Amino acid sequence: MKGVLLAGGTGSRLFPLTRITNKHLLPIGDRPMVSYAIENLASAGIREIMVVTGGTHAGEFLRLLSNGREEGLDLLTYGYQERPGGIAEALGLAAHFADGEPVCVMLADNVFQYSIAPSVAAFEGQGGGARLLFAEIPEVEHLRHLGVPELDSSGQVVRIVEKPATPPSRYCVTGAYLYDASVFEVISTLTPSARGELEITDVNNHYVAAGQICYDVIEGFWGDAGESIDAYYAVNDFVRRHGANHLRGASS
Ligand code: G1P
Repeated sequence: MKGVLLAGGTGSRLFPLTRITNKHLLPIGDRPMVSYAIENLASAGIREIMVVTGGTHAGEFLRLLSNGREEGLDLLTYGYQERPGGIAEALGLAAHFADGEPVCVMLADNVFQYSIAPSVAAFEGQGGGARLLFAEIPEVEHLRHLGVPELDSSGQVVRIVEKPATPPSRYCVTGAYLYDASVFEVISTLTPSARGELEITDVNNHYVAAGQICYDVIEGFWGDAGESIDAYYAVNDFVRRHGANHLRGASS
């Protein structure tokens, strides 16, 4: 399994913090944000990662992460998104890198209290398709800024709605996604959404329609530090108190 870390975008929701840097390079606790996502992928046994970024600060990732040796990686490589074309378009740039293997995709502004290793292991035994990680979010207003699954009475995903005015459940789709290699064919069939981007939710709904989607509801804290200034500081507060990426059964 290969890892794809998505670290592009303009970071407009964190302006003006992001006027002079990429949001994934902003500090969380004592480290740049992106390092938490790399650490989480590495904790799940993923040793080959492609970081896809863009904009004017792309070179800083190379200076920060170098060859990934400090993170225990065998290979760290980079892709460049030439325009903000969406999460799914950024993932499409990793097709050659994936080379027919399944991928674990992580948005580099997502921080988890616990390692995603159990979900990666479950996906490996799933026999293909896609696996998503859901987090329970109590505040309806918060769900309106995220992807939200609609579930039937047996808990099966019926569809995923991006940024719903009326959230159909109390779960959000976190930014950790597991796909078999067919994801790159799925991406090639997508058309841009109203905001002109290739949406990861359209990819996920493809697997829902094909009956090839599984999910886990994660335990512990999850935050998207790029969602707003408030979310950025909420993630910071949590990480400073409790750390992140703990192996289940370990402390905090
Ligand atoms: C993206 C996804 C959304 C998901 C969120 C998690 O939203 O489109 O479905 O819930 O990441 O961080 P974005 O951060 O691009 O608004």
